[in-house]
Amino acid sequence: MSVLFIPYTLPSPRGGLVLSNRWWVAPMCQYSAQDGCATDWHGYHWANLLNAGAGMVVLEATAVEASGRISPGCLGLWDDTTEAALRQHLHRARALAPATAVCVQLSHAGRKASSAAPWDGGALLSPEQGGWPTQAPSALPHLPNEAPPSEMSDEDLDRIEAAFVQAAQRSARLGLEAIELHAAHGYLLHQFLSPLSNQRRDRWGGDWAGRTAYPTRLFQAMRRVFDGSLGVRVSATDWVDGGWSVDDTCRWAHTLREAGADFIHVSSGGISPLQKIPVGPLYQVHLARAVRAASGLPTVAVGLITQAEQAEQVLQQGDADLVALARGVLYDPRWGWHAAAALGDSVQAQTQYWRCAPREAGAVFRHARIGMR
Ligand SMILES: Cc1cc2nc3c(=O)[nH]c(=O)nc-3n(C[C@H](O)[C@H](O)[C@H](O)COP(=O)(O)O)c2cc1C
Repeated sequence: MSVLFIPYTLPSPRGGLVLSNRWWVAPMCQYSAQDGCATDWHGYHWANLLNAGAGMVVLEATAVEASGRISPGCLGLWDDTTEAALRQHLHRARALAPATAVCVQLSHAGRKASSAAPWDGGALLSPEQGGWPTQAPSALPHLPNEAPPSEMSDEDLDRIEAAFVQAAQRSARLGLEAIELHAAHGYLLHQFLSPLSNQRRDRWGGDWAGRTAYPTRLFQAMRRVFDGSLGVRVSATDWVDGGWSVDDTCRWAHTLREAGADFIHVSSGGISPLQKIPVGPLYQVHLARAVRAASGLPTVAVGLITQAEQAEQVLQQGDADLVALARGVLYDPRWGWHAAAALGDSVQAQTQYWRCAPREAGAVFRHARIGMR
């Protein structure tokens, strides 16, 4: 049996969350919400991903307040209306798929909010184009030609903390098994962490302790209200000299562990147009390995892990405890089936689909037959 398809127990205060295998669907924005509300597209997309044979599906970056959306089409969880829409579409999708853990990625885009969808160019939108004023730790734009965000006041910090806490409470009501706090890719919490974007002189900026203080405070506040698995997605490095580094991440991962984190999901980049990312197969795995070794936290590796054998190798080498795929599963929404077949293992699948298993894949759905619905 491969390591990839051995069940994994993710810790949580309410007891371990048993995942049927060790690969996750990574969060992927769909830019297809209406006023923050999930739509039919989400229902279709989630049912599709929940039938991929993954151990956990992480829902896209979900904004905790309207002005924290990356784009006008981003998903939200900030009031009863957005909560009801998420409930309706997610519950229907879950009913159409094998039992699979679901995690929501809670997010605030900070200075990278108010932007066009990638297929419309991704540029910052003016109010005339349907955009809104943005806020960030410091009044520094992401790109030199952009309108700068306004610097967040203490009241803004309190408001956004309350929004994250309320979204965590709504997530619990929705029956979500896990929450991933988005502190990666140049969005609000990463903007606090990185010296490239945080130049505050108060206690929320300055040295490492100051820059990590607000993201840690948010994590602690969410931990108090959510007893499912709670983890953090980090950009382990800015890939810019003088930026947030792997050592900074390792230190913060240790702090998060002490604060009760259940997992850490290791990505990179997104804070600066000066970044130089050595993109290639497995290009972020060494970052996961460093963070795992330093913190002892259950660690998710992500980034151009596309083949079953690669995923298996990452786990066997002890680089990470879990792997996540984004583009690979958009391209092949049955990635888990194919990986199980390649490694001689089995996945859960809906009975209606069992007859498709090719002869050479052997008992790819056997596990589903004997154990799962
Ligand atoms: C369409 C798309 C949407 C994405 N949206 C998010 C997101 O909502 N939150 C996030 O943290 N990363 C997001 N990402 C990044 C992925 O989660 C992942 O880290 C990245 O694509 C590298 O993994 P891959 O090589 O398997 O695609 C997105 C990526 C894609 C392709």
